[in-house]
Amino acid sequence: MTALQSALDTASEEFAVAKEAMITKLGEVEAEYDKAIGGGGPDKVERHRKRGKMTARERIELLIDEDSAFLELCPLAAWGSDFQVGASLVIGIGVVSGVECLIVANDPTVKGGTSNPWTLKKSFRANEVAFQNRLPVISLVESGGADLPTQKEVFIPGGQMFRDLTRASALGIPTISLVFGNSTAGGAYIPGMSDHVVMIKEQSKVFLGGPPLVKMATGEESDDESLGGADMHARTSGLADYYALDEQDAIRIGRDIVSRLNWKKKGPEPKTEYAEPLYETEDLLGVVPSDLKIPFDPREVIARLVDGSEFDEFKPLYGSSLVTGWAQLHGYPVGILANARGILFSEESQKATQFIQLANRSNTPLLFLHNTTGYMVGREYEQNGIIKHGSMMINAVSNSKVPHISLLMGASYGAGHYGMCGRAYEPRFLFAWPSAKSAVMGPQQLAGVISLVMRAAAEAKGRPFDEEADKGMRAMVEAQIEAESLPMFLSGRLFDDGVIDPRDTRTILGLCLSAIHTNEVEGTANFGVFRM
Ligand code: COA
Repeated sequence: MTALQSALDTASEEFAVAKEAMITKLGEVEAEYDKAIGGGGPDKVERHRKRGKMTARERIELLIDEDSAFLELCPLAAWGSDFQVGASLVIGIGVVSGVECLIVANDPTVKGGTSNPWTLKKSFRANEVAFQNRLPVISLVESGGADLPTQKEVFIPGGQMFRDLTRASALGIPTISLVFGNSTAGGAYIPGMSDHVVMIKEQSKVFLGGPPLVKMATGEESDDESLGGADMHARTSGLADYYALDEQDAIRIGRDIVSRLNWKKKGPEPKTEYAEPLYETEDLLGVVPSDLKIPFDPREVIARLVDGSEFDEFKPLYGSSLVTGWAQLHGYPVGILANARGILFSEESQKATQFIQLANRSNTPLLFLHNTTGYMVGREYEQNGIIKHGSMMINAVSNSKVPHISLLMGASYGAGHYGMCGRAYEPRFLFAWPSAKSAVMGPQQLAGVISLVMRAAAEAKGRPFDEEADKGMRAMVEAQIEAESLPMFLSGRLFDDGVIDPRDTRTILGLCLSAIHTNEVEGTANFGVFRM
């Protein structure tokens, strides 16, 4: 084993500038996260409490084991949309009675916990995480169902919420619903599709239609309790398996249910003893230059993420724009692919392909550390087969069966985002640092390309080219692409699982690797036809 030697000068001017820029960006992310935590605002939270209820996050806090971590996913969902940041849903991985579970909690203070298009995307992502990692699903339900004004985008795809739950059950993944309040209309199928259902006295309301709707539909006079109260469901309909006296009692019962699942990880339990990195994680704040055109050595990041900073580099002298090698993180083996000088050439692509195949032979999860402007373009590179070689890497990433985790540290542009296991390549988890940017290409390059295309089109038609208008267009496009490349924007659209503090990266990766090992980790020898 070889321990990495850091050459990072933490006393340098560049380090200080990069660190300050990162801290500023972190502050911006935190301000947005605070909005998600604030739910529907102080009035709505106050009203909720006056009803004797806990908030979604308080329920989760009480549900998970004392002093254990909750890895919240997609907290900035819906950022930049017309909906509240967080999308009226809290999702994440928490340990309940010693079992890592996927927890989904409606935030009833935001529009009655109703599901808008972003809520749906977030709940589908939660289910995906549960499926891929074989995590029991616990739903903390309190939702008014579909967000009615956006029903056209919610109603038809929304069926997947219920389909996912029963498919999880069919795969043997336990599903548990703790119903804290409303679970009406389509929402009634959340407990309906769950293996275990807990309802709370005089608090849970589970019906296909509430009293006004029933009156409209059939003329029948009814009330909440007789239509869908916990008492009725526990004694009469049989939909409730457990009758809780209050919220705390429901959570206690939920914890008991999990403790009786006899749920065992298919992989190793998290280790308690492993070496810490030799260098401070705090330094990660200053590694990425605020100008992403300036390259940085990803070994400085690796040295602060992996156990004992030990990293056995694979092919260090070949394809040096991509660093590949083996390490351990919280005791779990991991193969790392990290961009060094931004551009991926043919050698880097071939090296990555071989490395991914090796990880599949040794059943080793892969970590992709992004800082790439994409595959090299130009006559020489085209003639030498950059498309073939890039395709080879994308083939390997697509067909690899070991779990992947992606971290966007800096740039993640063009097909480089794909080759490095971007969101569409289904990494088990994908996080971004506040310094990250992702788009089809850089803003200046993209505006320049549009400008060249328009100039050529004007020439072809024999029309004069308006230089002034072109300047204005380029400035506008650059600003738009810059804004759309930023991590908060991408996180809002659920293109990542969260924008994280670089200092938390090691802990988060450790939690992810542990969750991943709840399922079997098995590679493959079966890839697509490699175009040589
Ligand atoms: N779609 C969109 N907005 C909704 C909504 C829905 N289905 N249900 C509630 N809201 C909004 C309310 O208009 C209110 O908005 P505001 O914050 O701008 O004032 C906010 O959510 C809170 O609603 P309120 O009724 O004040 O809260 P509550 O906690 O007393 O009750 C519900 C919450 C969900 C029980 C209640 O609003 C309700 O029954 N809604 C209709 C549920 C329904 O029939 N859904 C059908 C889905 S298919």
